[in-house]
Amino acid sequence: MKELRIGMLGFGTVARGVAGLLHRNQTQIEERCGVTLKLIRIATRTPDKAKGMAGLDAVRVDTDCESLTQDANLDCVVELIGGFDPAEKLVTMALNHGKHVVTANKALIAERGMALFNTAQKNHRDFAFEAAVAGAVPIVKAIRESLAANRIESVHGILNGTCNYILTEMRERKLSFAETLAQAQEKGYAEADPSFDIDGIDAAHKLAILAAIAWGTPPDFRGIHIEGIRQITDSDITWASEMGYRIKLLAIAKRHDAGLELRVQPTLVATGTMVSQVEGVFNAVFVKSDHAGTTMYHGRGAGEYPTASAVVADLIDLARNQQAGIAGTRVSPLSVLPHNLRPLPVHGLIHLQCEYYLRLAILDRPGVLAEITAILAKHGISIDAIHQKGGATAQEAVSLVIMTHQCKEKDLQTSLGVLEHLESVQGKPVVIRIETGLS
Ligand SMILES: NC(=O)c1ccc[n+]([C@@H]2O[C@H](COP(=O)([O-])OP(=O)(O)OC[C@H]3O[C@@H](n4cnc5c(N)ncnc54)[C@H](OP(=O)(O)O)[C@@H]3O)[C@@H](O)[C@H]2O)c1
Repeated sequence: MKELRIGMLGFGTVARGVAGLLHRNQTQIEERCGVTLKLIRIATRTPDKAKGMAGLDAVRVDTDCESLTQDANLDCVVELIGGFDPAEKLVTMALNHGKHVVTANKALIAERGMALFNTAQKNHRDFAFEAAVAGAVPIVKAIRESLAANRIESVHGILNGTCNYILTEMRERKLSFAETLAQAQEKGYAEADPSFDIDGIDAAHKLAILAAIAWGTPPDFRGIHIEGIRQITDSDITWASEMGYRIKLLAIAKRHDAGLELRVQPTLVATGTMVSQVEGVFNAVFVKSDHAGTTMYHGRGAGEYPTASAVVADLIDLARNQQAGIAGTRVSPLSVLPHNLRPLPVHGLIHLQCEYYLRLAILDRPGVLAEITAILAKHGISIDAIHQKGGATAQEAVSLVIMTHQCKEKDLQTSLGVLEHLESVQGKPVVIRIETGLS
């Protein structure tokens, strides 16, 4: 049987899963593509971690990443180190030495992807990255291939399982953000330094990739408005529930005539919508397109085997392409042919119009409420509901929760600028946008 000879860079969580899956499902994979996917070499910082693992007896394991990228005995390189350095250099070397590349590295694709796509194209090599977005959920292929007949109108979803786990646990167990984060770290759902996840960076990397594929544009990570979930309290979650909402970290991309709206933000979504029911570590993506309507993709967005499943699916594609003699040519990584890629302007947050949840810490003195509502009214912001929470004394701050009708972000920001400077308003108001019209 023909072989696809594989070299793997890194031997951490995902790489272990890839090695295990290739070993266990070899027969099924061969039946499907007629090719043996053969792991030949691994290069990683700590080779001892591969010792004793089933299926690796005949695999060379060392620390020499650069020589792996140039090994004439390999057809493709799987990059599972992560980050930029040395991953970027190694992927470039591998492509320039005629290897196809598969990676799960969302940061690399979202921030430095264009140079790599160009290098792959120049060398007529395949460059695949299904595992970079939403783990096992086959969303890259769905948008790029299964929905290729459509104009995409919007892509939104829950792209970070750590944040979704934290928000779910906070609601179900009525725990604080800090308590839930600590618990997520104990269970291995959050890193020791969780900032990439909880500050929304990880979800934004994935959104940049999905938007690039959906609209045939270079990934624009810098064009994304990013907010994380650190400021969300258990009280926000409880009050949102009382008013018929759940709080989710949503990644949202919409096509407007004027450009692309790209944002990652904690968002109120109505309880009962499908997106509100996506719980725990699960991911979900909703794609709205002109002829297919809205389609939904749901599953495990991270973890050893779910992510390995996507990496190996890419390897199977490479094997099929190699068999057919069409490697590097069949599907363009960003959906449109490279000469049709067009940068699109950012349709900034300031153009947004939606309903808002505002939480202000105020000193409970006579006239405060009237002062605040007058400022909002002056800026054209109409209030749907208002709740004062807590029974503090005049010296202690209480929470004032305001739900607005639809209004302009520009007007909201102007009025917040005034509210923040009132003597009776303590600290920065918390703003959570409400996304209506969701499935
Ligand atoms: N984990 C997931 O669920 C998941 C899901 C989707 C995508 N991804 C992406 O998949 C990639 C891998 O993630 P992971 O979770 O498997 O990471 P990981 O567990 O931290 O593994 C990284 C591996 O790379 C090795 N490494 C680090 N720096 C190196 C260097 N300079 N030279 C050689 N080897 C080096 C590490 O060596 P040591 O063993 O010495 O640390 C480790 O074996 C990342 O791009 C990540 O964003 C991960």
